[in-house]
Amino acid sequence: MKRKKSMINRDDVVERGVALWDIHYPDQDDSCMSIVHQFVDDFNPDYFLLCGDQLDMASISYYNRNKPKLVESKRLAEDYKGFQRDVLDKFDNILDDRCLRYFFIGNHEYRAERIIESDPQYEGFIEPEINLDLSLYKVVPFNGFLTVGKMNFIHGIYINKYNSNKHLSVYEDNVFYGHTHSNQVFTKLSPFLNLPRQAVNVGCLCNKNPSYMRSRPNSWVHQFLFWYMFDDGSFVYYTPIIINDKCFINGKLYHA
Ligand SMILES: [Fe+2]
Repeated sequence: MKRKKSMINRDDVVERGVALWDIHYPDQDDSCMSIVHQFVDDFNPDYFLLCGDQLDMASISYYNRNKPKLVESKRLAEDYKGFQRDVLDKFDNILDDRCLRYFFIGNHEYRAERIIESDPQYEGFIEPEINLDLSLYKVVPFNGFLTVGKMNFIHGIYINKYNSNKHLSVYEDNVFYGHTHSNQVFTKLSPFLNLPRQAVNVGCLCNKNPSYMRSRPNSWVHQFLFWYMFDDGSFVYYTPIIINDKCFINGKLYHA
């Protein structure tokens, strides 16, 4: 049987983007990062979003205060240097010059600000904006948001059992978020609206069993988001899940 031709012209898709949550460098999953890197190279996005908790910042965590064993050999300066080399520079090398890039401050990057609240003498020394070359990025402040067409992006706030329901009821519009490292979707379709509204919780790209988890069971998922957007701001999105260092996207096998 002859294949039906798509009624949508490719030219109607005006923009495409990729969003990543919860890399938690240096606790990133290297295989996931390699797969995402390969995909971004193929996809050539117009938007590239690092949506928070790109860095773990464990060396200045409140939870690790007065526990020297937990921060042994961890150095913030090394983390910044490594993240610049292994993440920012690698993506910047393959992203097109016209690609709009955003760097969200998640609760982990915000740890620098929390230190400054109690020890203001460190201001100007420990913040990500000071230590990373973000000249190609717009920084989205902690708990800030970015709107692209009919999509809204945040780092994520709620971690309760029905967190997608909570995010949709609070933000009252399409919202894409991470923070929980898990995957959940809640949809509302009103007869007054043409399109559904969704809160979409996208998984993480970090090690699923970092030392502080001590092998506790969890619901973490390796995942990221990409989308195509039409000129009226409507969109189609995909949230591929990476399993055993492999992922199929648009019929192509990506593997680390
Ligand atoms: Fe987070």
